[in-house]
Amino acid sequence: MSTLIVYSTKYGCAEKCARMLSEKITGKVDLCNLKTSKAVDLAAYDKVVIGGSIYIGKVQKEVSRFCLENMSILKEKKLGLFICGMFKEHAEKELKDSFPVELLNNALAKEFLGGEFVFKKMNPVERLMVKKIAKVDKELTDILEENVNKIVHSMNNI
Ligand SMILES: Cc1cc2nc3c(=O)[nH]c(=O)nc-3n(C[C@H](O)[C@H](O)[C@H](O)COP(=O)(O)O)c2cc1C
Repeated sequence: MSTLIVYSTKYGCAEKCARMLSEKITGKVDLCNLKTSKAVDLAAYDKVVIGGSIYIGKVQKEVSRFCLENMSILKEKKLGLFICGMFKEHAEKELKDSFPVELLNNALAKEFLGGEFVFKKMNPVERLMVKKIAKVDKELTDILEENVNKIVHSMNNI
């Protein structure tokens, strides 16, 4: 069984999570960065994991576009969904808002994987927003490996 992990990232966290998943999911696993890769042939995969990071309550637009453009074939796949973000209290709503309901209903796993604040990569406005809203002013990593493992478990046990 082969798996495709498609993701979109701004500063690398969703990619880090995609790589963690790719190392733990058994069988052939391919990665696809939606910002840099050309179109992929979904027909070649039994399982698809889709993920992206959240900015101001919204998932990266490439993820929404990918889901809409490939809805009918994605509904036929064994599906995993994830988001990266730093506001756990919004996780449930953000997950619900990030993917079409048809895919949410069809998914074997849907997880909030946490995230990172990487100040050196942010622009000045973002730095200010994070300081003001999250009350954080230094590098912070909070990737939830137990939630990564939940997706792995769902993908490996079908
Ligand atoms: C300007 C800004 C806005 C953010 N807004 C949210 C948000 O609304 N909800 C959330 O859970 N995380 C939010 N985050 C945290 C990011 O989702 C987190 O940094 C994530 O790890 C980024 O992943 P990426 O490097 O793959 O883009 C925000 C981060 C920044 C810098």
